Amino acid sequence: MHAMNIISANNLACPIDKLALTKRAGCYQCDNGHSFDIAKQGYVNLLPVQYKRSKDPGDSKAMVQARTRFLDAGFYQAVADDLSSLIIKNIPAIKSSCILDAGCGEGYYLNQVINATQKLNNENDIAFAGIDISKHAIIAASKRNKQASWIVGTNSQPPFLKQSIDLVFCIFGFHSFSGFMDILKPGGKVILVEPSANHLQELKAIIYAEPAMDKSKKPPATTNNYSLIESHTLQFQINLETNMQILDLLSMTPHLFRASHQGKANIETMDSLTLTADMIFRVFEYQP
Ligand SMILES: C[S@@+](CC[C@H](N)C(=O)[O-])C[C@H]1O[C@@H](n2cnc3c(N)ncnc32)[C@H](O)[C@@H]1O
Ligand SMILES: [Zn+2]
Repeated sequence: MHAMNIISANNLACPIDKLALTKRAGCYQCDNGHSFDIAKQGYVNLLPVQYKRSKDPGDSKAMVQARTRFLDAGFYQAVADDLSSLIIKNIPAIKSSCILDAGCGEGYYLNQVINATQKLNNENDIAFAGIDISKHAIIAASKRNKQASWIVGTNSQPPFLKQSIDLVFCIFGFHSFSGFMDILKPGGKVILVEPSANHLQELKAIIYAEPAMDKSKKPPATTNNYSLIESHTLQFQINLETNMQILDLLSMTPHLFRASHQGKANIETMDSLTLTADMIFRVFEYQP
């Protein structure tokens, strides 16, 4: 039995001129002399100031910590399991490949994908990279898993070489089909996991004055270069048993910012809540 060989990503691109980055002592450098320090936690920040829409973009430290507590309690284990098997099904049978978690947050899913993949009987090399626009998320991710390459960056201009990614996945994230097009190999896959119609409907009923306030998501707008090759839904129940778990879940979702004042006040007083999880998994194939 030969386990899959996990390597670090060697396909990083300079976010300024897209030239290949070479790893040197303590930093990554391109041939134009742009240099990006490797942080003590092991990640690299490839988000140039001009791409930042705010001083501290993406999820805050408090949101990252809430997500970690919620995910580590196992409420979304079924999502991680479903995702891992979908990814294993879609890993190309080639000597060397690269899988990217785009908008990886604090690394819960990529860590599980790596652990599941590692058990495969397969002699190929595989690199796993996670990017997120939030520095706080990437710091947490680099503590969670030491085998992945963690990068602060944006999905709309992902800092990888052209045609160097085999599979990109995006869980409840800010996907960018045009950004992914710049880095996917022909035949490369995109896996999206997004909330479906009944997702957290009991929570929405509590926090919105009118349920219609939360417009349910339209299917993703894809370009002609992508074809949908598989889609399925996943439903399960979540039993939250403390007020902290309820607040943690709320701070992981966009509902935190959209909830009514009264809705938030109602949530503050609740100690338990049973919720429906309803998600849709989609696999797309890219052809240039
Ligand atoms: C709802 S969270 C999901 C995180 C993770 N995928 C999970 O499910 O645990 C969305 C994440 O997208 C990140 N994000 C927001 N805009 C982004 C962008 N343009 N590029 C990359 N990540 C982004 C946020 O910082 C946050 O960590
Ligand atoms: Zn450069």
